[in-house]
Amino acid sequence: MLLPKIDPTATKSWQMLADHYKTIQSRHLTKLFADDPNRAETFGLQWQDVYVDFSKNKVTEKTLDLLYGLANEVELKKAITGLFSGERINETENRSVLHTALRDFDAMKPEVVTALAKMKQFSEELHSGKRCGYSGKKITDVVNIGIGGSHLGPDMVCTALQNYSKHVRVHFISNIDGDHVQTILDTIQAETTLFIIVSKSFSTQETLTNARAVKKWFVNQATPDAVLSHFVAVSASPEKVRDFGIAPENTFPMWDWVGGRFSLWGAAGLSICCAIGYDNYERLLQGAHEVDTHFKTAPFAKNIPVTLGLLSVWYNNFFKAETQAVIPYAEALQKLVPYLQQAFMESNGKGTDRNGRPVTYDTGSIVWGTTGTNAQHAFFQLLHQGTKLIPTEFICFKDSFYKNEENHSLLLTNCLAQSEALMNGKSNTTDKHRHFSGDKPSTTILFQSLSPINLGKLLALYEHKLFVEGIVWNIFSYDQWGVELGKEIAASIAANWDKTSQSEKISPSTQILMQKINGKN
Ligand code: F6P
Repeated sequence: MLLPKIDPTATKSWQMLADHYKTIQSRHLTKLFADDPNRAETFGLQWQDVYVDFSKNKVTEKTLDLLYGLANEVELKKAITGLFSGERINETENRSVLHTALRDFDAMKPEVVTALAKMKQFSEELHSGKRCGYSGKKITDVVNIGIGGSHLGPDMVCTALQNYSKHVRVHFISNIDGDHVQTILDTIQAETTLFIIVSKSFSTQETLTNARAVKKWFVNQATPDAVLSHFVAVSASPEKVRDFGIAPENTFPMWDWVGGRFSLWGAAGLSICCAIGYDNYERLLQGAHEVDTHFKTAPFAKNIPVTLGLLSVWYNNFFKAETQAVIPYAEALQKLVPYLQQAFMESNGKGTDRNGRPVTYDTGSIVWGTTGTNAQHAFFQLLHQGTKLIPTEFICFKDSFYKNEENHSLLLTNCLAQSEALMNGKSNTTDKHRHFSGDKPSTTILFQSLSPINLGKLLALYEHKLFVEGIVWNIFSYDQWGVELGKEIAASIAANWDKTSQSEKISPSTQILMQKINGKN
């Protein structure tokens, strides 16, 4: 079964939502609360230790009924079944989309069991000192070389769970910026560092260029033989890995049925195992799996990712909100937003529908944000008094890791204060500069603590949210053809870099820039 291919704008629900929007648009959030004394309870969803408060959104029960009706009309349930059963729902690449199978311990594919066992053994040997550097010293540093999904997820998780550290420093080299590569090399010692090259294709320009530069640096410090014990790879292209000089026993698999941006759930999570230990990594997978089960089985009205995804459609397509902000009140989640940007924008930044026709409505919201309270002192001015509608998701945790209660309660009070202020506003008739209109929607997602299991839950909630959006928008969420053109042109510019007569394919504007860079103008 392939995905349904239903134009959402042709559904009855879409038309009804468009009409309903006119009645909701100008009803202030405070009025919605005044009209319904039970609003907070009605629009709150508790699942396990996760509580999601949707009540500060521009919705009534009718809105949600219409949105769930839209989900039914676009056959979301059928699509969810297709996702989990391994149908080739990534049609433009003829692939299944089975990152969820990497965390389903009850029905795990044998190759996944083998890969996890290898990751466990490898990381445990690293921590115990059994697997050491060429001079016999313990490995103290791990450098992950990879970009996009081969970087953002592992880096984000290692930072988010830094309090669970096994005292191995993990560094990330992603950008092709040689200055950054050198900065990392300056902080490590060859004899105590392990390099993990992560690339599904093992042909990504940035990763391969950086890997070659790092290998050259390493051989200069050590010996060519030592490469065998200091370089490992995670890839779906074992032949290319072997050609690079990495032994098959030090190669971990990736599969074409897992999209690059979901790599952290597979062997690309090796750096995570090195950072926080295999057991914590497994807890991360378990948390995500619990959300998978919730997403698959909970009725739409009790389903957190379904509701989050539909709200996103509501704001994107009816309120014409172009962006949504994500503000985690935990400094450890400082890398969550870049990770979500790839997840959402590489998945849903598409302009062709599943029937191959240009879409006639907006897709792919722009996701942005950073941690609170820092964000309050940076861009919150615009959220409070700017002209744009920016639905905001607040993420917070009841408990802090180190139990620094004074700081933590202030962190949480700030989080709650922002959503209150955004919703209520404050009238000032004498000085318009001090007037806050309020009526700015937000959702608050509250977890017990930022533990490995809860981080797994949080990430899976967002993964399924983007799936729901993509199904409603009738687009293919799991390809990324849009990033190919830039790669092709970079190759063509590189081929013409030193030439005096320029290719006609390169615009005059870019040619002048090339001449200036090369000192010929
Ligand atoms: O350019 C986009 C992309 O294909 C991402 O989807 C992927 O995560 C990244 O490049 C890295 O690709 P690879 O793992 O093959 O090096």
